[in-house]
Amino acid sequence: MLIFDREDQMLKFMMEQWEDISKEGIGRRGCFTVGLSGGKTPIVFYQKLAEWDRKSSWERTQVFLVDERFVPPDDHDSNYKMLKETLFVKIPIPQENIHPIPTGKGSLEGSAREYEGEVRRFFKVSKGQYPAFDFILLGIGEDGHTASLFPGSKVLSESNHLTAAVVLDKTRHDRITLTLPVINHAEHVIFFVRGKNKAPVLKKIIGGDDASLPASMVQPRSGNLLFVIDREASSELSG
Ligand code: 6PG
Repeated sequence: MLIFDREDQMLKFMMEQWEDISKEGIGRRGCFTVGLSGGKTPIVFYQKLAEWDRKSSWERTQVFLVDERFVPPDDHDSNYKMLKETLFVKIPIPQENIHPIPTGKGSLEGSAREYEGEVRRFFKVSKGQYPAFDFILLGIGEDGHTASLFPGSKVLSESNHLTAAVVLDKTRHDRITLTLPVINHAEHVIFFVRGKNKAPVLKKIIGGDDASLPASMVQPRSGNLLFVIDREASSELSG
């Protein structure tokens, strides 16, 4: 776990992680595979990333989305729209290296299966196997959710599928998410968390007080897990 007092230092560290992990992935497999989350917190990081003008590295970077709201890609609440505007339009990444979650038409379940097919095809994994992303970037919600894995959801025990449809109450958009085993097969997982409102839940997750919280269930089998957090989010941690 790393706690930062200053945003610029936090972002510098994230950029160093990105550089190192991408170099590792490109060296090992010829490409860097990454899963990016939505939410507000990572926007500053995506803005910073947009300044990374390594054409040859972007050409070898494959970007997947960790989760998505079941809305058209130009909807205000779409993670793809946020990523497109903050990052994709600003970097020299080939369009075919971007793997959005297909939404906006058809059924929620159909979208989840279509995205699963895309992940399977890209990573060449058959049933019973999981892809090993080089890097998955996650956030944490105040209720302990991460990706679109919510507390108490039956999707938390999904082990046959790489992606799942998440039906939420009427006040929220339904979603599609990568499943827990996919996250836990990644080489590097980073939780990027900022703000005082996240302090109580971080205390529960890091203190091990509630193992049933989705973010607590992120435990990579052999990969690295890192919490990159700001001072405010760390304010209820002891020691
Ligand atoms: C999303 C996410 C979600 C997010 C958390 C934290 O699409 O919203 O993937 O899991 O990371 O809700 O969101 P904030 O960064 O906005 O607090």
